Amino acid sequence: MIFKELGNTGLKVSEIGLGTEYLFRESKETTIDVINHAIKHKINYVDILFTVQNYLEKLAAGIKGHRDQLIITGHLGTKDNEGRFQKTRNIEECKKSFLKMLSILEIDYVDILNIQFVTLKDLPKLFNAGGLYELALSFQKEGKAKFIGISTHNVSIAIQAVNSGKIDTIMFPINFVNHNLSGREELLTTCLKKRIGLIAIKPFAGGKLLMRNQTVYIAKYQTGGIKLKKKIPRDLTPMQCINYVNSLPGVSVVLTGVKSVEELNENLKYLTQKEKDRDFSSLIEFFKNDTN
Ligand SMILES: NC(=O)c1ccc[n+]([C@@H]2O[C@H](COP(=O)([O-])OP(=O)(O)OC[C@H]3O[C@@H](n4cnc5c(N)ncnc54)[C@H](OP(=O)(O)O)[C@@H]3O)[C@@H](O)[C@H]2O)c1
Repeated sequence: MIFKELGNTGLKVSEIGLGTEYLFRESKETTIDVINHAIKHKINYVDILFTVQNYLEKLAAGIKGHRDQLIITGHLGTKDNEGRFQKTRNIEECKKSFLKMLSILEIDYVDILNIQFVTLKDLPKLFNAGGLYELALSFQKEGKAKFIGISTHNVSIAIQAVNSGKIDTIMFPINFVNHNLSGREELLTTCLKKRIGLIAIKPFAGGKLLMRNQTVYIAKYQTGGIKLKKKIPRDLTPMQCINYVNSLPGVSVVLTGVKSVEELNENLKYLTQKEKDRDFSSLIEFFKNDTN
């Protein structure tokens, strides 16, 4: 496993990170097994996306005893609505949800506090007095968060966020489909220049790229701005997806979402296979005409 600098944070993150969105519906045993397996294979970056109690309790069991080995991202911007996650921009709800997250996970702080699901509508209010960013800063002052980030599924918002001078990290979907997304290059270059940690999400476009030999619909939120309908090549592999994202200058960590140890194992093959098996040049060619 290679460890990369996460922007200017001083944190060194494993090039593959663990996304936990799809563990939401899995059992406690699976969640524990996936986390243990990830740690065994030197993954040190774990993303904790929601503040739903049942999901957090399963993750808490997985991270118990491993806090010091992990770089944890927690999110601000959803609440627990009777076992489902619901987006909220209400400051009190976000505050309560984050504190509940720390308490259920039995941790004192998150390494990165990420303001999630930022849309064009959210952006103007985000940095205002009394806004979500101010709340994140207050948690940082209290030592409950080391660094502050933003995640968005829209490239122009991502560019504005990294140019704001206010955040340490940005989470954005990066995969073959958005190879020619206009603005993506600017985002990557700005992250490098300003030393903002770029956490790449959706390397498999939310799993769509691994539905091989099937015609899939890929939505804008899975690519940061491009939607398409396409038959996926039968021989596309997870390691090609991971290798592609990892090869892009500016990317610190590729967050792969998995729902089982088997999927994680398949993805970890990236670490051991020969370069010729990880070669992705034909796929750049395959997706080269898809643009926004
Ligand atoms: N902050 C935010 O707003 C935000 C938003 C999105 C994601 N994230 C984070 O980023 C992480 C990664 O994004 P993502 O999970 O949405 O997308 P992704 O990594 O592109 O896709 C994940 C899905 O791909 C499929 N998959 C993974 N490995 C596989 C394998 N070896 N073989 C077959 N299928 C496989 C699984 O779904 P199936 O098995 O069902 O096909 C899995 O759930 C998330 O888990 C989350 O932690 C954050």
